[in-house]
Amino acid sequence: MCGIIGINSNKSVSATIINSLKKLEYRGYDSAGIATLSNGLINEVKSEGRVDNLEKNSIVQNMEGNIGIGHVRWATHGLPNSINAHPHSSQNVSVVHNGIIENSTLLKKFLLARGHKFKSQTDTEVIVHLITENLKTENIIDSIKKTLKALHGSFALGIIFKDQPDLIVGARRGSPLAVGYGPNENYLGSDSYALKSMTNKITYLNDGEFCIVKKNHVEFFNDDGVKINKKVLELSSEEEKYDKGEYKHFMAKEIEEQPLTIKNGIDEYIDTANNDINIYNIPWKRDEISSITLVGCGTAYHSCLMAKYWFEELTSLDVNVDIASEFRYKKNRFKKDNLYVFVSQSGETADTYAALDLCNKNNMKTCAVVNVIESSIARDSEFVLPIHCGIEIGVASTKAFLGQILILYILALKLGLLRGDLEKKEFSKKLSDLKNLPKLIEETLLIDNKIQNISYTFNEAKGSMFLGRGFSYPIALEGALKLKELSYIHAEGYPAGEMKHGPLALIEEGMPVVVLAPRDNYYKKTISNMQEVIARGAKVLLITNKSKDEIVSENIWETIEVESTNEDLLPFLLTIPLQKLAYYSALKKGFDIDKPRNLAKSVTVE
Ligand code: M6R
Repeated sequence: MCGIIGINSNKSVSATIINSLKKLEYRGYDSAGIATLSNGLINEVKSEGRVDNLEKNSIVQNMEGNIGIGHVRWATHGLPNSINAHPHSSQNVSVVHNGIIENSTLLKKFLLARGHKFKSQTDTEVIVHLITENLKTENIIDSIKKTLKALHGSFALGIIFKDQPDLIVGARRGSPLAVGYGPNENYLGSDSYALKSMTNKITYLNDGEFCIVKKNHVEFFNDDGVKINKKVLELSSEEEKYDKGEYKHFMAKEIEEQPLTIKNGIDEYIDTANNDINIYNIPWKRDEISSITLVGCGTAYHSCLMAKYWFEELTSLDVNVDIASEFRYKKNRFKKDNLYVFVSQSGETADTYAALDLCNKNNMKTCAVVNVIESSIARDSEFVLPIHCGIEIGVASTKAFLGQILILYILALKLGLLRGDLEKKEFSKKLSDLKNLPKLIEETLLIDNKIQNISYTFNEAKGSMFLGRGFSYPIALEGALKLKELSYIHAEGYPAGEMKHGPLALIEEGMPVVVLAPRDNYYKKTISNMQEVIARGAKVLLITNKSKDEIVSENIWETIEVESTNEDLLPFLLTIPLQKLAYYSALKKGFDIDKPRNLAKSVTVE
């Protein structure tokens, strides 16, 4: 999953391409590269790592050319080095690619037999040689058509040609691609966000379409090469400004912003005047939905797991949760009265999008819970519930997680009320508790020094476990995910009651174990499970909520008490110390907190 940009202008493009690539780094930061066309030659510069490295290269600083393409890479085929960095070029053609070419091995064999020489280990390079080969006998459009037909897998492509000083080809199958329109220049980009500083006039390509971007004109074609007309959308021209402010890392800032995330969500969705939830435009009637399937990846999947408990508690709907990459390939029993909810911060996650696409193709009811409202998942869902948490930069999702679970909780309350599963009185009480949540999160955020000290022990350990039951179990999973992705420490989230069925064997003297035991229905049971790990030598960090009742247990290593509220809302508060634990642990190790190794903010390949 990578980011691509293309600019065709009447002025030099390299500096603007570099700036756009910086905005696309959330899609990958293994390498970056640029190719421009000047004096009838393709110039290509690539470097390992961040766009900053590319920018420092003196050749890039003096790079000429009014037409060019750029790329940031998240490695799929081949090591993350400068040879495998995009663009990939022959003498005639240069290509940037996001996606995976599944039949690249076969195509490479065919091309090698025709004398083509390969430089990289990537799947993308076959596209370069295939176009070069097809150009021997075909014109540009036919060579593109023929090349695209030969490719299996997914792609968004940007292509420039040595002999075409006023033409960039863009093509899409699976991976998103947008065209932007400017004064005497036009653009190609992985998304509108990368183009926003240049234009708010956008056309999104649909699957199978390709386009020819000239300086003053753009033409669109379907997969048979037939010209088609497409709409130009006018997006909001406001560019969201976001910097680290006084914080060392975006993640630290995003953790501290969570009271605001929740407040914004509440302001958007709670209709205080009518003591109701401001989701009045659900496009389906009450009896048209009897079950719900929640789909997401990573942290968004944990949000779905969390929501399952709320939907089961507050509504009579049957609830299923699926990991998007599993959902898209399993045998699904599509049911007319099922609502499919897709949860995603970026709205561009390839697996989640593919699951949505599958539902759309089966005429299912689809709803998106997303942060980026201009994203593919938002655009292609029937109904959208934005999470309004503002831009999130840190690869480790924090405020988007709380934003997602807030909206899912609000949806559960609304459906519970609409279906008559929840009494108005109880509903009102829950709304009023919800309004206090930002303040409680603010207070919980003050627990800081203690977590910093605790994080030392985690750093010294070989591995750790995060345990919880009921509402706390998805939070345990999320806490473990945060620790592994930031600190590269093995961490496993587990239902506390399941330990005795196997994982207890992992516990050894001094192993740090986080036990989430808020004072809810599961409290006593979780405390018993905690004793079982303490008895086997675990160093337990107990996270619970403040209560007048003493904690009746011995030998607990450390205890953190979050604020108290109704049981539904405790998961929000329990999340905070876990985010901080992961943050401080990575900080002490000196790791790159906002861009952990091997990851990307938006995962746009399957
Ligand atoms: O943009 P999405 O919410 O669809 O992304 C899904 C996951 O890739 C994402 O939550 C990932 O697990 C985070 N890095 C976790 O912190």
